[in-house]
Amino acid sequence: MKKLSARRRHPLAAVVVLLLALAATGGLYAAFAPAGKAQADETAQSLAIDEGKKLYTVGCASCHGTGGQGTTDGPSLVGVGSAAVDFQVGTGRMPAQQPGAQVPKKKVIYNQAEIDQLAAYVASLGAGPITPTDKQVDPSGADIAKGGDLFRTNCAQCHNFTGEGGALTKGKYAPALDGVSPKHIYEAMQTGPQSMPSFPDTTMPEQEKKDVIAYIKSVNGEQTANPGGLSLGGLGPVSEGLFAWIFGLGALVAIAVWVAAHTAKAKKS
Ligand code: HEC
Ligand code: HEC
Repeated sequence: MKKLSARRRHPLAAVVVLLLALAATGGLYAAFAPAGKAQADETAQSLAIDEGKKLYTVGCASCHGTGGQGTTDGPSLVGVGSAAVDFQVGTGRMPAQQPGAQVPKKKVIYNQAEIDQLAAYVASLGAGPITPTDKQVDPSGADIAKGGDLFRTNCAQCHNFTGEGGALTKGKYAPALDGVSPKHIYEAMQTGPQSMPSFPDTTMPEQEKKDVIAYIKSVNGEQTANPGGLSLGGLGPVSEGLFAWIFGLGALVAIAVWVAAHTAKAKKS
């Protein structure tokens, strides 16, 4: 009896009780709070899907079908994912207007909240690439040199060395990449719009996509300053060397000709 009360009055007893109480509260909170939050997220999500469905029925169903199954005027959207919608509608490609070799970029007619709702609805039709977060597409601190290598191997054959774009076959073209937002660059790689191949995370992981974005931004002078020198298509030191050869050698030849002409004249007189 004496022993017990002595232990109860141990200077650490109060601390132990406090810690136990805190742990219990934390445990209770952990058990209940996230459930509430998840539920709130779920309702918000289903609201977004409902709103998205309304927008879809008005603006997209005529070509993509009432349930996104596709028609002769537009492909099925089942499984294209929210990233494809965010890219297509966010760059003004969708809703398409007239048929043609390639659906062009136009003025964006939906605001970002509506685009998110459309994306939520289409994503609910079947799983596909998910719209990336700001953090996922942020190129700060990425490796520009590595991005350049990746770009030259995977993208330059269509978009040119610094992304100024180029013509493809049958009236199609790879657009210039200056001024395209990091999110839309990321989504283009995720989803491969029209004749562009897709670069899913299995072939090009998130960090490599960031490197590519950093490269595109840097060659377009959007993030780092132009390092100087002639751009000449941005081919780098090779083109600048070529410039020196052609004009430098040309000047030397011209001087040689001039000197020869003058010595010849001097001999005659
Ligand atoms: C006039 C017909 C038309 C309308 C209206 C239209 N689309 Fe499209 N859509 C197309 C065609 C054709 C394609 C295929 C060419 C392409 O990929 O750009 C396409 C492609 C897409 C793709 C890419 C699919 C993929 O496989 O990656 C998405 C996403 C999309 N549309 C979403 C929408 C949404 C959302 C709307 C409504 C805001 C909409 N479209 C309205 C005709 C249309
Ligand atoms: C086979 C040719 C080809 C390759 C390879 C290719 N692209 Fe594309 N890219 C295209 C075409 C065609 C479009 C236009 C698609 C459209 O309008 O729907 C496009 C569109 C884009 C866009 C959208 C531009 C805009 O104005 O909205 C981005 C960004 C892009 N590509 C980035 C890349 C990157 C990064 C790579 C390499 C990882 C790459 N592309 C590889 C052909 C290609």
